[in-house]
Amino acid sequence: MSQAGPSTGASRMQTVEDALLSFPKAPAHFFGRDDILDDLLDLAARPAPATLYAAGGMGKTAIALTLLHHEEIAIRFGKYRYFIRCDALENSVDDLLGRLSEAGGFPRPKDVAQLVSHFEASPTCILVLDGIDSIIDPLVPGATEITTTIEELGRCPKVCLVATSRIDVKIPGFWRMRVSRLSKEAARATFHSHCSLKESAGIDDILSELSFHPLSIALLASAAEENEWDQPALLEAWSDGKTSILKASDQTSLEDSIESILRTPTIQAFGATARETLEAIAKSPGDVQEAELSNLFPEINGVEDAVRALRKFSLLYREDGLVKMVSPFRLYFQHFRRLAKSAERPFLRIDSLIRPPPKNLEPRRHDSRVSSPNAGPRVRFVYRL
Ligand SMILES: Nc1ncnc2c1ncn2[C@@H]1O[C@H](COP(=O)(O)OP(=O)(O)O)[C@@H](O)[C@H]1O
Ligand SMILES: [Mg+2]
Repeated sequence: MSQAGPSTGASRMQTVEDALLSFPKAPAHFFGRDDILDDLLDLAARPAPATLYAAGGMGKTAIALTLLHHEEIAIRFGKYRYFIRCDALENSVDDLLGRLSEAGGFPRPKDVAQLVSHFEASPTCILVLDGIDSIIDPLVPGATEITTTIEELGRCPKVCLVATSRIDVKIPGFWRMRVSRLSKEAARATFHSHCSLKESAGIDDILSELSFHPLSIALLASAAEENEWDQPALLEAWSDGKTSILKASDQTSLEDSIESILRTPTIQAFGATARETLEAIAKSPGDVQEAELSNLFPEINGVEDAVRALRKFSLLYREDGLVKMVSPFRLYFQHFRRLAKSAERPFLRIDSLIRPPPKNLEPRRHDSRVSSPNAGPRVRFVYRL
């Protein structure tokens, strides 16, 4: 396992090029993922298009940004490295073409063929389309046309295209790469890079309970650091709070990651069934056999179709004929009713929710990361419970 990134041996030229780039830096903390990065470097050398897919918070964007800033990529593509966040786009081919031509510095094309001809006349570039699931949901108008546009761009030999997606989308010609959980070592390194607690079996157990899910680990470690919990306080807060601890107010929270999928047109089309299905599976005491879904949950009308759609959006996955959910998501849906019921209540400070209160809640000197206007002066993270 290594801390990947361009820092070691990076040339001065690369540093200058990086400073000119308009997209985010490589993540400061990045562990594991050597295999996937090696595969992506191989594909970039051909170049061949790829889609990284996984549930929210699994580290797709982190991998894509680390790739873009990787020394080999920086030297090969120089300033011709582009990163486009698709959730900032409207669902139209026009908007996508506009954004792509802006990135490449071309005049606005009338269609994808004209855009491809601009790319063909330019130096080879690497392009990340981050979060294409937000523009290719099958129920979004124009989704098919957008997918075709991405496919055609992927076919252009002068464009090395890497897409990230929560949907396992099958675009002809694209390599599909599933981003799985971190290794235990990488999960541990991630946790301890965000907070100063020493390694321990107790913390390892929590990381494993979180399925080594990077976003959840980063949230938990930040909560521990910001509240200056010692290990007993962390373990106690974890056993009391679980999902609420994962709702750090100044990061993309687990809730955002999950709820944004539930708002997509395809999942919305299932109405209440989608959430009922997720809650039922999260609370199910035993294994959920895919073949037994309608027997296990007779009260949920259309449970099989809902599971199929939810699997497509990575909220559920299938393993050995069983329907499963990564544990941070399971925790979320186990507690959802309680969280939702109190959503109208004002924010509460975490120290009033955990008994006995965590120690050492003295203010820290740097207060810049306080983001909630409701935060009290002594505690950084506030939660709804
Ligand atoms: N390999 C990793 N090592 C350490 N932290 C990671 C790693 N991958 C992701 N993270 C952290 O997890 C969080 C979610 O990652 P992100 O790339 O945004 O997930 P996704 O794009 O799949 O939703 C971020 O805070 C990120 O820094
Ligand atoms: Mg992302």
